Amino acid sequence: MAILINGKEVAASVREKVRLEALDLKEKTGIVPGLAVILVGDDPASKIYVGNKKKACLEAGLNSFEHILPAETSQQELLELISRLNEDPAVHGILCQLPLPKHIDERAVIEAISPRKDVDAFHPVNVGKIMIGNFDFLPCTPAGVMELIHSAGVSVSGKKCTVVGRSNIVGKPMSMLLLHENGTVTVCHSKTKDLAAECREADILVAAVGKAKLITADMVKEGAVVIDVGMNRDANGKLCGDVDFENVAPKASYITPVPGGVGPMTIAMLMRNTLTAAKLTAKL
Ligand code: GUN
Repeated sequence: MAILINGKEVAASVREKVRLEALDLKEKTGIVPGLAVILVGDDPASKIYVGNKKKACLEAGLNSFEHILPAETSQQELLELISRLNEDPAVHGILCQLPLPKHIDERAVIEAISPRKDVDAFHPVNVGKIMIGNFDFLPCTPAGVMELIHSAGVSVSGKKCTVVGRSNIVGKPMSMLLLHENGTVTVCHSKTKDLAAECREADILVAAVGKAKLITADMVKEGAVVIDVGMNRDANGKLCGDVDFENVAPKASYITPVPGGVGPMTIAMLMRNTLTAAKLTAKL
């Protein structure tokens, strides 16, 4: 039976470290890291995420600036707000919650955020920096996954790593971070010919597709490390990941649960990125 990787605990320890470092930064420089979060529209899930981010900021001693805009906000208005936040010295990190309403071009918004304040690491400059391994920020979810792997004492070097999903937010950067740590990485997607065979090869399997219980026990190698980034509802409306946890756990060496695995890490890493952004400003 697999050992459970407890994302809540690991996230709490990252957040506590950020709190202490932020306190130290304030004492030394007077700078309090500040995160601006923009939400356009009233998507219920996004509202919850934004609320959680605010709470985490306050607990870590960071300033939080919320900008809740109506769904009809024009792209121009949003870009003007971002431009003001780019210039605001109290704001070190800017996060615009995705998805945006259909009339707004997501790429234009991501590219408007100053790369120095881009705590999501979605800007092409930061994406490029990650590719060459010379980065200031890592995208929160893949960075959180790496933190979980490290917390279990698992070394990536030389391991076969399979990432299921190739999104810009998780799959692609995830594969790059595993590669940086010398994993042999395979990225699977909807056109992959034999997903089960690719998954069965993996010493470390990361599922990030958004399909409830897609990864079944027959797709997992005995003793694999299984990381579940999915956040879905099953047929009964219960929260579940991309992995069929009940049947996969007995085969894995380590596994993350949903909820309580990768989810809490995303916000913890956002706090860390906001602290990093403030330190960049202070040139520390
Ligand atoms: N929507 C879902 N996940 C994310 C994220 O990590 N960052 C932003 N900005 N929006 C999201």
